[in-house]
Amino acid sequence: MADEPRPAWSARTLAAQALGRIDEASGAIVPPIQLATTYIRDPDNQYSRGYLYGRPDNPTIREAEAIIAALEGAPCAMVLGSGMSAATAVFLALAPGDHIVAPIVMYWGLRVWLQNEAKAWGLRADFVDATDPGAIRAAIRLGETKLVWLETPANPLWSLTDIRAVADIAHAAGALVAIDSTCATPLLTRPLALGADIVMHSATKYLNGHSDVIAGALAAARDDAFWARIKRVRATLGQILGPLEAYLLIRGMRTLDPRVRTACASAMELATRLSNHAAVAEVLYPGLESHPGHAIARRQMQGGFGGMLSIRVRGGEAAAIATAAQVQLWKRATSLGGVESLIEHRGSIEGAGSPCPLDLLRLSVGVEDVDDLYTDLDQALRAAHGH
Ligand SMILES: Cc1ncc(COP(=O)(O)O)c(C=O)c1O
Repeated sequence: MADEPRPAWSARTLAAQALGRIDEASGAIVPPIQLATTYIRDPDNQYSRGYLYGRPDNPTIREAEAIIAALEGAPCAMVLGSGMSAATAVFLALAPGDHIVAPIVMYWGLRVWLQNEAKAWGLRADFVDATDPGAIRAAIRLGETKLVWLETPANPLWSLTDIRAVADIAHAAGALVAIDSTCATPLLTRPLALGADIVMHSATKYLNGHSDVIAGALAAARDDAFWARIKRVRATLGQILGPLEAYLLIRGMRTLDPRVRTACASAMELATRLSNHAAVAEVLYPGLESHPGHAIARRQMQGGFGGMLSIRVRGGEAAAIATAAQVQLWKRATSLGGVESLIEHRGSIEGAGSPCPLDLLRLSVGVEDVDDLYTDLDQALRAAHGH
């Protein structure tokens, strides 16, 4: 009898069950951790099982990659030792002399790398207002621009870029589009379905979700020559994730959906309540109608506007730092996307040359009770303003 057709389970269902795989050797419903650094060669001198050495590949890594590929609707995915190694592997797969276009508002660590190390390596980068597809079109140099890098929503102003519009412009000029989709997560935005060629995540953030693993991920629209070059960069520079971390990442991704749903709902509520707070000059959150990227976010993001927001505190930098000093529940720390809520005076970390206003506090909303989160922020804002 022919096999009954199986329903196409949604990506969130597949992630919850780590793809539902059963370990053949033991029947375990949790994937095993393979720590081996080297693999047996067959008597006929081949590697028929597909594994040779731990720097290019590993079975636990492949489990994590299969989940990320399913989440992004991609034919292939790759996990690496950090978000920065994922992003830089893409740039290092380009050739010295290539030109790239990147946003002014983006993860500061990568912007600094592009301005310094990538430049020293021969890549030429122009930084533009990526909320304006026309500015991207104007920055593209025909025949020279090989990659347009985007981040949406982008740190720390949560600016939105219309992925489809930029993909059309870039592709018409022969350039690829790569997107840092860390803050959108694969649940809220599917960049490949909107025309992007590569998606990147700092898996340190929402994918792992528990502030206990540094990891990066890439997924691609095609398993092609460029993807093979990125793979070679990972293998030769030793940027693969360790198998223990890959296991933790697989475990973290099982709860991606409930974590992200909770963070989105709480961030929306906090953004709305903080918009009416006397000590807050402005709330930056794509879910608010007042946000300049709201219309694009409504079109491009499904199921929520993300768990990240920023507030601009009345009284400037000193008042913002004083507010962060007063929190009791929120953790005063960098990073984002974990189950615990974090608050950060972003200007203190980004330094000179950053588009981040100095009165800005970045909030990463976790899964705690939203009333507790608001109460703590309210008392911190009041204390910093002397009432
Ligand atoms: C949006 C974004 N992209 C990339 C990175 C870099 O990731 P990692 O710290 O995992 O190298 C970060 C880290 O803060 C980030 O927030």
